[in-house]
Amino acid sequence: MYRTNTCGELNITNLGQQVTLCGWLQRSRDLGGLTFIDLRDRYGITQLAFNMETNPALCEQARKLGREYVLQVTGTVIERSSKNTKIPTGEIEIQVEKLTVLNESKVPPFTIEDQSDGGDDLRMKYRYLDIRRNPVKNNLILRHKMAMLVRNYLSQHDFLEIETPMLIKSTPEGARDFVVPSRMNPGEFYALPQSPQQYKQLLMVAGMDRYFQIVRCFRDEDLRADRQPEFTQIDCEMSFVEQEDVLQTFEGLAKHLFKEMKGIEFADFERISWHDAMRLYGSDKPDKRFGMEFVELNDVVKGHGFSLFENAPLVVGICASGCAEYTRRQLDELTDFVKRPQVGAGGLVYIKYNADGSFKSSVDKFYDQNALKAIADKFQAKPGDLMLILCGEPMKTRVQLCALRLEMGSRLGLRDSQKYAPLWVVDFPLLEWDDETQRFYAMHHPFTAPKPEDEALLDDQRRWGDIRANAYDIVINGVEVGGGSIRIHDRQLQNKMFHTLGFTDESAYAQFGFLMDAFTFGAPPHAGLAFGFDRLCSIFGGVDSIRDFIAFPKNNSGRDMMSGSPSPIAKEQLEELKIALKG
Ligand code: AMO
Repeated sequence: MYRTNTCGELNITNLGQQVTLCGWLQRSRDLGGLTFIDLRDRYGITQLAFNMETNPALCEQARKLGREYVLQVTGTVIERSSKNTKIPTGEIEIQVEKLTVLNESKVPPFTIEDQSDGGDDLRMKYRYLDIRRNPVKNNLILRHKMAMLVRNYLSQHDFLEIETPMLIKSTPEGARDFVVPSRMNPGEFYALPQSPQQYKQLLMVAGMDRYFQIVRCFRDEDLRADRQPEFTQIDCEMSFVEQEDVLQTFEGLAKHLFKEMKGIEFADFERISWHDAMRLYGSDKPDKRFGMEFVELNDVVKGHGFSLFENAPLVVGICASGCAEYTRRQLDELTDFVKRPQVGAGGLVYIKYNADGSFKSSVDKFYDQNALKAIADKFQAKPGDLMLILCGEPMKTRVQLCALRLEMGSRLGLRDSQKYAPLWVVDFPLLEWDDETQRFYAMHHPFTAPKPEDEALLDDQRRWGDIRANAYDIVINGVEVGGGSIRIHDRQLQNKMFHTLGFTDESAYAQFGFLMDAFTFGAPPHAGLAFGFDRLCSIFGGVDSIRDFIAFPKNNSGRDMMSGSPSPIAKEQLEELKIALKG
């Protein structure tokens, strides 16, 4: 037997016991007569004690051991003279009687402790060492717990976990595909799934009624903190349901996770239409941990000769309560923030509502105290508040103001990672116009059903932009953690949708023929949703980056720094695949 116990479980109740532990040497301290070693495994740290007087040979041996050596020790559990109340094993230590070095280790390239001296790239290169550190290890444990809760919950609600293929047909909609050449079919390619969307719909046609899968998805898109080229979805689909059933089911799952993981019980999640989310927060994923809703000002700012406002289709602002004392420098910082290319505003107008009831603004030349009071009233501002205003083309301006709102939220400490604000965004537009290609795209995907009351608008091209979808996103703390829709189960309507998206009968059939055929054999009404599992884990872990919750993630250039992928392949391999590289 390698070990009798783990390094995380012995305490004062085990005094006098003879135990054998295995683990890695985290740290050693040589105090002359005594040598202490912290022995670490996944479960914790236990202190080992070696006594020069009672066992000089063993103590000498212990002194020579390096960091991250793999050890096996046998000894007796004794009470420590100086206790560490911060760890569960902190009241005891092991008086070591036998020491075996199971393996040596090179000096690790960074310290393997909670606070490491290793930079991001170095830790990614040696990810297996990084995972030995508590912060990363605990994230993977959290992910495991979440996955178990999800599986049990969905299984209890009659969902069956069914695997779908990883080598599938490439589809041009959505993000770019990762493709895989087929050796047996030269010149032909599989794609890795961006999601199992079509397969889960086929499983509904197949009568499986309720499906789920914790499944890897692949998208060749630009990467960010919350986007990886391979990521995991909790992918779900249900038959004979309406939107309300779907929202209730997955709100139930989210509430279950909050209760079990965080001990938080939520009342019903707020619902907001896409339209209102854009109008009030400039985003389809509003961070509702704080208010600071947008206030539209056209009716109070026009007619004062300030040409910027006169000519702007939309003048809109936020009110930062208690910020009237912002200094010139702070206001300049905010102006620079909105002028950054990532935000792209032309400038920022401010109005301070001073504590004495007077106003000071960057547009005093055009607005007297009465006019400023009228604006402040529109904001329902109080003395001490600061109003920040942008203007321009409506959608662009709202998105810019959203960036400013989030920046103010962060500056004012209103985006606490331990606070949770979940909500549903519903009634998304069905179609989205793309200026570059001069055509409409499905905002969600081509299988999403329009709202029944908007279906007739599909016949009027001028109204396509107004059609609302039966689609919904679940948003927590400004992050889109999941999305889904009611699907089109009627072949006629699906054909119409493909035409709207610019497909001919032939091109739609070439792409989606198998699904269209399936729909001729009695497709039930169905709907579904997929959570981004990595994002869900990062929110529950209170961390922005999903990388921290993936055992072996890619960096922002899509590289695995550890294995060095992607990498060139041998000429022979290319020849076998009948792939010729240019140059
Ligand atoms: P969607 O494309 O909205 O829907 O994806 C569902 C959820 O997956 C997460 N997600 C990502 N997470 C990490 N890295 C990425 N690159 C990434 N892309 C998406 C998001 C998102 O909400 N088939 C539909 C679902 C359905 O209709 O049932 C789909 O894939 O959290």
